[in-house]
Amino acid sequence: MAREYDVKDLSLAKEGKVRIEWAERFMPVLAQIRRRFEKEKPLAGVRLGCCMHVTTETANLMRALKAGGGEPALCASNPLSTQDPIAASMVQDYGVKVFAIRGEDNETYYRHIHDVLDRKPNITMDDGCDLANTIHRDRTELIPGVWASMEETTTGIIRLRAMEKDGALKIPVFAVNDAESKHFFDNRYGTGQSTCDGIIRATNVLFAGRRVVAAGYGWCGRGFAMRAKGLGANVIVTEINPVKAIEAAMDGFTVMPMAEAAKIGDVFCTLTGNKNVIRPEHFEVMKDGAIICNSGHFNVELDLPGLESLAEKVSEDERPLVKRYDLRNGKTIFVLADGRLVNLACAEGHPPSVMDMSFSVQALTTEHAIKNKGSYPVAVNPVPADIDMNISTLKLASMGIEIDELTPEQVKYLSSYDEGT
Ligand code: ADE
Repeated sequence: MAREYDVKDLSLAKEGKVRIEWAERFMPVLAQIRRRFEKEKPLAGVRLGCCMHVTTETANLMRALKAGGGEPALCASNPLSTQDPIAASMVQDYGVKVFAIRGEDNETYYRHIHDVLDRKPNITMDDGCDLANTIHRDRTELIPGVWASMEETTTGIIRLRAMEKDGALKIPVFAVNDAESKHFFDNRYGTGQSTCDGIIRATNVLFAGRRVVAAGYGWCGRGFAMRAKGLGANVIVTEINPVKAIEAAMDGFTVMPMAEAAKIGDVFCTLTGNKNVIRPEHFEVMKDGAIICNSGHFNVELDLPGLESLAEKVSEDERPLVKRYDLRNGKTIFVLADGRLVNLACAEGHPPSVMDMSFSVQALTTEHAIKNKGSYPVAVNPVPADIDMNISTLKLASMGIEIDELTPEQVKYLSSYDEGT
């Protein structure tokens, strides 16, 4: 018999509900979708398996899915990002089946993934591909019943595209991350603000005047670099892609290899989606007191076993979620949140105003996938462009911003090729 929920403590629900309702104030587009879903019930009877950060924003997405008649079950996409009061309120106040406890060990994390899969989802919603991966690896009996998978992150899309290329993908996927109304805003402004927020909450460090190193200049890296600069930091960017490196340089940042940045940085944050970006040869040359953290999806960007091998002593909790490594070379390095997503482990993740757009893409693409069940190929499919336009139009209206419309003459001009100089 499948379990109904596994959360830390249901008595936390009251606090959770207040916080969920606070976030709702900043998620007007998703609230509008929820009200329409309530009337039209486009998700009636559909079982939804979701593996996402258990936050106030995700709770509002779950409410929208439920309002549409869906039956969501949710587990965490990172063991440190769960907000226990939110998990409790989702179970108690909103009837969502939640399997997530902050700080859960690896075994519990995967048991919770299986708890969600035990409900035999028709649609899966992933933030990092753990559900889709587990289905393809260990729960292949579920594949015929899964109509489509939604993927929220760059890292997840990279994994899914690799599966598609190898012929290993067995389910149609929608690349929610790649929708413009998602990654232009969430990855850039969401990660930019929440990463600074996480570093500051964990350490209380002043950015102004410090050398902050951003590893990676994709959408997340640029958001972080931009916001760190805004706080007065001297920002150094490291890259492996020449085009992105030029962009960083022309955006006014200092660009250099990590081997050089390691010698002069005060605060380091990785946002690359790759592994072992900061390694022992870098730790060896860092300044005493350097702070290092990661804001990429998985905790593999910092080579922490490598750091440990250089340390004569590792001690916990200098401050919560700060670990101190005393190296044999006499210097100390501080690691935040064991190299897990610093913005979600040390702060609350992206603010609701930006998740409003990301989760509206999730809700509308889910509705679209259900309406068009069976008609999409087993591939990583783009989110339909009209969903992007619809969400951006609604978001603009909610922000009280009006824009121009093309005149008929301009429409004609754009579709013709006979007018020139
Ligand atoms: N990813 C980044 N920030 C998030 C948030 N606040 N909620 C859910 N997923 C997130």
